[in-house]
Amino acid sequence: MLKISGRAQLSGHVPIGGAKNSTLAVMAACLLSSDGCRLRNVPAIDDVDSMVQILTSLGIKIKADGSTLDIDTKHIGQSYVSYDLVSQMRASFFVIGPLLARMGVARVPLPGGCAIGARPVDLHVRGLQAMGADVHIDRGVVQAYTRQPGGRLKGAKIYLDYPSVGATETLMMAATLADGETILENVAQEPEVVDLANFCRAMGAKIRGAGTKTITIDGVQRLHTTDYSIIPDRIEAGTFMIAAAITKSIITLSPVIPDHLIAVIAKLQEVGVRVIEEAPNRLRVEGNHHYRGTDIETLPYPGFPTDMQAQMMALLTLSEGNSVVKETVFENRLQHVAELCRMGANIRLKGNIAVVTGVPNLSGAPVMATDLRASAALVLAGLAAEGETQLRGLQHLDRGYDQIEQKLRNLGANLTRVSESTLEQI
Ligand code: UD1
Repeated sequence: MLKISGRAQLSGHVPIGGAKNSTLAVMAACLLSSDGCRLRNVPAIDDVDSMVQILTSLGIKIKADGSTLDIDTKHIGQSYVSYDLVSQMRASFFVIGPLLARMGVARVPLPGGCAIGARPVDLHVRGLQAMGADVHIDRGVVQAYTRQPGGRLKGAKIYLDYPSVGATETLMMAATLADGETILENVAQEPEVVDLANFCRAMGAKIRGAGTKTITIDGVQRLHTTDYSIIPDRIEAGTFMIAAAITKSIITLSPVIPDHLIAVIAKLQEVGVRVIEEAPNRLRVEGNHHYRGTDIETLPYPGFPTDMQAQMMALLTLSEGNSVVKETVFENRLQHVAELCRMGANIRLKGNIAVVTGVPNLSGAPVMATDLRASAALVLAGLAAEGETQLRGLQHLDRGYDQIEQKLRNLGANLTRVSESTLEQI
């Protein structure tokens, strides 16, 4: 449990770590290399530990030294991932593309539902089939084979019904070692997709158009080693920008790529947050004493990110007037509403739309994190509230934030983690 003292006043600089979503995809893409790779700026989070376990279970050797990972992919021992590992984290399914491209076979269990929605993988499967793979689902396991044993996938023209981040990444990775040209249409344009493409290019892949709606990949025979640094995490940066806003404080963030945060910065400025410095690698944010409500609709990049919706809602609970928050990316990603209401927020929920009516104050309360970004939103609300907030469900927070408590403490916040065994003694 995390005890958060409210009415925090923050100041200073916060270092932003490597992007979680880039790291997970790039780690999977290491399977494409016949040598292995060195990754730098890897965040210390539980999701990275889960991906390390998955790669290790495939026979890959990994050495960690601080934020650097050496991943030796010369030999892949097996092509099957166990359900126990996949069920911990949806992104583990993303190994299916590189495994199939490199080995000609991949058997990965369906990731199943998760707290924020059903999250099917039909777009990944249909794309791989279009590239000539035999894919069927047998007792919950996606079994994918190239037509000839150990054979290669074939380049194809694939249109995605929805610009899914994971499907774009799976198919882009698979296409790097396919025979011929693959054209992916209506793809995701997220910065993490671009980072993955840059990583694959550093290994020798031929990829054009990442960051636009169409990506073209010319398959090559093999990919080689590289030494690659992951981009800064735009969602961690956005979360700390809201920490400055909600506590009416001034915080400097770096490294950060402000261009990745255009929609978030625009919405923060609309409610009255000041961005007092914007440099290519740095942002300085100043909170205000009065905020106006605004409307938010989550969309694929460059729209407002679903991964910032919960944190933004925490700020809107304290912004004057009505704000309408519409979640369009995931069908069940508003579970933090009930918890924010426990802290005194005024929010009405109808389907995927939340109407937030600003209140003058939140009050500390026991709350439960239901997913990763919900947990961040509750930490933010706790920093602003009167009194103490007790946040449970910290496994969600630990999945994706690298030392968030320490970073907030360094800015002046008062947070204490209490272990369950200590709680029992109390
Ligand atoms: C990634 C991010 C996650 C982010 C999300 C949207 C990682 C590890 N995670 O997740 O943090 O919130 O993008 O920006 O990068 N869908 C289908 N069929 C498919 C694939 C997806 O219907 O085959 C649907 C999903 O159910 C969801 C929507 O498409 O409703 C978006 O999902 P997607 O972009 O694939 O998200 P992820 O890659 O899982």
